[in-house]
Amino acid sequence: MVIRVNVAEVVDNLVKDHDVILSSLKVLYKVINTDRPDPNDVKLLIEFFDAFIDKCHHAKEEFILFPTLNLRLFPFEGSPVYVMVSEHGIARYLIRMSSELLRAWVEGGDEGAGQALINYLRLLADHLTQHIKKENDVLFQAPWRWITWLVVSRLMA
Ligand SMILES: [Fe+2]
Ligand SMILES: [Fe+2]
Repeated sequence: MVIRVNVAEVVDNLVKDHDVILSSLKVLYKVINTDRPDPNDVKLLIEFFDAFIDKCHHAKEEFILFPTLNLRLFPFEGSPVYVMVSEHGIARYLIRMSSELLRAWVEGGDEGAGQALINYLRLLADHLTQHIKKENDVLFQAPWRWITWLVVSRLMA
């Protein structure tokens, strides 16, 4: 199957996602900087990170933009896309760890898990902040941004 990708439109859409994600990270920092974070607030944030950041936003980058760049402009190995995909994996791991630690804290009454959870969420927030900065300030500013149409084979039929 072949799809046509309007790179400028895709990048605009991804940058709008970044604004939403950065707003959610501000909320996260506020929640984890309180003396005793509310588990319900933390649960809602982790669910949002899993659904929107991992399964929606990072999926859009990995299924649409990045394959287009790799198949049409430069190979995956050693490219900025290699770094971005690796960082998505780190984010996915931190989200999953946070979810498991939340369960151990709330359902198991494990206070140590609660403290570890805050540390993992801070790592996640810092990681996503720097990841978005790299995409907004470097990758998405590259000259290919202004190529109107690229045609790629869709890998996932
Ligand atoms: Fe990304
Ligand atoms: Fe992104």
